[in-house]
Amino acid sequence: MLEKIQETAAFVKSKLHSKPETAIILGTGLGSLVNEITDKNEIRYEDIPNFPISTVEGHTGKLIFGKLGEKDILAMQGRFHYYEGYSMKEVTFPVRVMKELGIKTLFVSNASGGVNPNFEIGDLMIITDHINHFPEHPLRGKNLYGARFPDMSEAYSKELIIRARRIAKEKGIKIQEGIYVGTQGPTFETPAEYNLFRIMGGDAVGMSTVPEVIVANHCEIKVFGMSIITDLGVEGKIVEVTHEEVQKAANEVQPLMTTIMRELINRV
Ligand code: HPA
Repeated sequence: MLEKIQETAAFVKSKLHSKPETAIILGTGLGSLVNEITDKNEIRYEDIPNFPISTVEGHTGKLIFGKLGEKDILAMQGRFHYYEGYSMKEVTFPVRVMKELGIKTLFVSNASGGVNPNFEIGDLMIITDHINHFPEHPLRGKNLYGARFPDMSEAYSKELIIRARRIAKEKGIKIQEGIYVGTQGPTFETPAEYNLFRIMGGDAVGMSTVPEVIVANHCEIKVFGMSIITDLGVEGKIVEVTHEEVQKAANEVQPLMTTIMRELINRV
């Protein structure tokens, strides 16, 4: 496994002209950030040794290197979801490669269902913490490096959260904050499950992010994450959810999420 990570990192390094310390997983809501990357250099996942290949509609798989403003960045266009059938080692493989490449800070985004009764569809939520509700842990098995029992007391950087709050205020963007519950999907939740996640202490629930954030913490990469509330799992407000509606709600607020992320990345 370690050799595979190093082989992949060596291949990627051989294609690079810069040494980015910032990585972005372009999840839902950040797709259009790609258009702002300049001096682009792209590598398709299928051309990268040992890389999993993404299969979900609307997620093209590429690593993109370039500049966002003045900052050298590495962006992942297309992530690997557990529900697609990948193992947790595959889902988190790119984060381990990031570590080998010298990445220090990771920015992530996703879509989620709000279970906090104060949330509305289209809200942006800064992820302040998470609850891991996946059935398999990404660090299960032999510990290759880092702590066997990693600390998770600040899984999402407090400093970056404070800066993001400030940016949202400056730009007049309404922002929520909360705890993201990561669960396997691919079903959306039953009303009873939404209720359970609220009782557990969650504010929103989605099918990604938590595995990558756990591995980033294990590798001592700082994390900042944001979620778009695309539907509500709140009693009395639950209606049928479809992937298309999730995408539509996300597209509408995408420019606001992009603004906060762009500014934050440039100020790190
Ligand atoms: N549940 C799980 N994942 C999601 C949801 C949801 O309601 N909305 C968007 N992703």
